Parts: sequence; structure tokens; C-alpha cells
Amino acid sequence: MHFLITAGGTREYIDPVRFISNASSGRMGFSLARAALKAGHKVTLISASDLQPPVGVEFVGVDTAAEMFEAVKKHFEKCDCLIMAAAVADYTPARVAKTKIKKTTRPLAIKLKPTADILKWAGLNRRSSPVARRSKQLIVGFALEDKDLRKNAEKKLKEKNLDMIIANTPAAIGVDIASVQIKIAGGKWLKLPSAKKAVIAQKIIALAENI
Ligand code: CTP
Repeated sequence: MHFLITAGGTREYIDPVRFISNASSGRMGFSLARAALKAGHKVTLISASDLQPPVGVEFVGVDTAAEMFEAVKKHFEKCDCLIMAAAVADYTPARVAKTKIKKTTRPLAIKLKPTADILKWAGLNRRSSPVARRSKQLIVGFALEDKDLRKNAEKKLKEKNLDMIIANTPAAIGVDIASVQIKIAGGKWLKLPSAKKAVIAQKIIALAENI
């Protein structure tokens, strides 16, 4: 299979030297890339993380949500499975200042506009059955929830037309251990014991192979 995996937290620029981002390290996406490679798959990794690319992946470095969206659109057609492990910013500054913003003594408000939902775009634009010798495409998403984890994640699974969703809590951000729950569309919830992201990644790749 050819996996297209996204990783890391996007950076949304306010001016040439400042940005809004989040605490995602990119470890989960990179672990997925390594697990897919180890299982003998092709991997394209679109990353907004500072981590070193694993040897053997086709690596695409991006900064912003808009750049990640362009990269996903460019590489989507050739993949059999998209895994959106990136923490894509939901909002970006409405305007990026061309030069560094000077400080004043007055409060500063930054207007934000919503970004495109990449996962939703993929759910709408995927091959849902084999076409011209290309297999159907699987779409896998993540949900980070601090309350009503299963309910909120199931909503994303349905609304974004996904095959699988991996739900976790903010405790997983920036650390190497995670405790996730996984639901395959039409199936039951699977609660994995707390484990290293490398172990969880192997399980996710195996589940995707099975689907
Ligand atoms: N995602 C995406 N494009 C965005 C935002 C998120 O593709 N602009 C993907 C993430 O990579 C992840 C999933 O969507 O796989 C997370 O779902 P989302 O509904 O965006 O979660 P939150 O951003 O946490 O939104 P909410 O505030 O509704 O929980």
C-alpha cells in the first residue's frame, strides 16, 4: 500500500517572525511513517514538525495549514490510505503583516479566519471503490478530546466520511506514551492499553491493512 501521512502542528504566521501554533510534536505521525515502512509499504510524509525525516519516506516539509492542504491535494491521488495525524490549525490570521509588527503600549487584536478542513476534503474526494486499477482509498483521522471522547470522535468519523478514527486526550501531546481508543466505521470501540507511540502506530497500520 502507499500511505500518505501528515504530522506535526502547523504554524500560522502573524508576521515574518511570529506564528500561532500548538503543542503537537509530530511523534505520532512519524511513528506511523516508520511503522508503515517497516511493514513494507510506501510512505509519503507531509510534515510540519522539526523531527528528522525517517530514511525511506518521500518527505514533504510544510509550515502552514494552507501549505499542508496543497501538499495533501498534490499527493492524494496516488495514495491508498491517508492518515491525518497532523494537528492542523483550525484558524489562521486573516492577514499576515509583510514586516515585523512593532510593539506599542496599546492592546493588539489579531483577527483569525477558519482554515480548510483537509480531512473533510479527503472524505469528500476519495475513491470509495476501485477505479482504473487503483484501489479504493482509506481515510483515517485523529480526534483530540478532553470530554465526551467517544461521542465527539464518532461525530467526526461520520461527518468527515472516515474509515477509522483514533481518539486520544491532550495527555498524549508532546510525550512518547499514549492511550488511544480506535473505532473503525461500523465497528465497535477498541481501547488500547497505554503504550509507546511506536507500538500504537504498528497497531493502526495493521488495522488499515486489514480494512
Ligand atoms: N484536521 C484537518 N484539517 C483541519 C483541522 C483538522 O484535516 N483544518 C484533521 C486533523 O488532522 C485530525 C482531525 O481533523 O485528523 C481532527 O478533527 P477536528 O474536527 O479538526 O478536531 P479539532 O480541530 O480538535 O476540532 P474540534 O474543535 O471540533 O474538536
